[in-house]
Amino acid sequence: MMTFRRAIVLAALLLTFIFILRTSHNDKRIRSADQLPKPKGVDTSHFHFSSDEHAKKGPPAPQATASYPSIIDTEAVAIPPSRKLSTQISLSDLRTQPLRTQLEYLFPYDPLSKFPAYIWQTWKTTPSSGQFEEAFREPEASWTIQHPTFIHEVITDDVAVHLLRHLYSSVPEVVEAYLALPLPVLKADFFRYLILLARGGIYSDIDTSALRSAIDWVPAEVPRSSYGLVIGIEADPDREDWADWYSRRIQFCQWTIQSKPGHPVLRHIVANITSETLKRQAEGRLTTDHKNIIEFTGPALWTDTIFDYFNDPEYFDTANKGNVTWHQFTGMKSAKKVGDVVVLPITSFSPGVRQMGAGEDDDPMAYVKHNFEGTWKPEHLRHIGEQQQEWS
Ligand SMILES: *[C@@H]1O[C@H](CO)[C@@H](O)[C@H](O)[C@H]1NC(C)=O
Ligand SMILES: *[C@@H]1O[C@H](CO)[C@@H](O)[C@H](O)[C@H]1NC(C)=O
Repeated sequence: MMTFRRAIVLAALLLTFIFILRTSHNDKRIRSADQLPKPKGVDTSHFHFSSDEHAKKGPPAPQATASYPSIIDTEAVAIPPSRKLSTQISLSDLRTQPLRTQLEYLFPYDPLSKFPAYIWQTWKTTPSSGQFEEAFREPEASWTIQHPTFIHEVITDDVAVHLLRHLYSSVPEVVEAYLALPLPVLKADFFRYLILLARGGIYSDIDTSALRSAIDWVPAEVPRSSYGLVIGIEADPDREDWADWYSRRIQFCQWTIQSKPGHPVLRHIVANITSETLKRQAEGRLTTDHKNIIEFTGPALWTDTIFDYFNDPEYFDTANKGNVTWHQFTGMKSAKKVGDVVVLPITSFSPGVRQMGAGEDDDPMAYVKHNFEGTWKPEHLRHIGEQQQEWS
């Protein structure tokens, strides 16, 4: 009898075989949806395109019959290959490489791998410590309730340092940069990218509640091997004076992120923050100025890094297309897939904000609730970090 494990191995081998076959036929890194093999057993009629332009071109798209109305735009399906560095590179040779290359060697990205069943959170105390804030008990428990088979860790500051020293021992400048960051909020930002790069899984802020299991975030018809990063939209301010309120016209949120280990976006942001921190430190510019956090480690840098990835010719065939910009994401009501990144609409991680087209908490696309206290204001975007700051 075929065991479950054997079935998984077989499926992985089959996918690898198809992938190699396609790669050898077509050297282009990025293939569009129609170049990709149709995954077996996938009824592609469940997908329809979210842009009118596509709807006009093809036959009329049937309504999705999935249990909830998630629409995936398969326009730009891409699987960045896991670039294997020449396998036998000595540690001293590796240390002469750029930081990004060192990180790639240390945490290679395999798009065909599974999403690890981890939930990572950070706080000053653990839920079992007795000093854990009552206000976070229910939100924290909701993650375990929705994900009973996942490993769920609330990492304290002390544990974070040990964990990072262990994970990043061969690139000590990463740990050096982490230790040099002058504010807890900066460390908290950096930690989420570091843990996901090294181990993958879900990171979510301590003041978030899981409304639905991550297993349901992306419909099962979309092969898990076709994406390695799941992100949500934090802000889509469709108003003239948006720049007075938000740092980017479309801002991706980093209070909840799901990834496979080694994803290039995480590698790029970790290399950026490490270099930037050590540079500022050397120049004596590592101040505790609060204003710059969003740009230095927060959602603005996160958003820029993601757009840079979408427009990076190393990963995407950008030659014949315009750049991917906020225009592709504004007003989204359903999920979109760009390459190996699934972008969820604003409702998914920001339900109930009563702004920017977000649906309510009971919307079928509402997955994670960010429990901002009081009204929705831009300064609350850094809410959690600032609380952490006050208590440290
Ligand atoms: C980090 O990324 C930002 C935004 O893209 C950029 O302005 C900055 O120069 C980068 N820093 C380093 C050291 O690469
Ligand atoms: C895409 O962005 C790059 C870098 O920002 C720019 O140099 C280029 O002109 C843009 N291409 C298009 C088609 O907009």
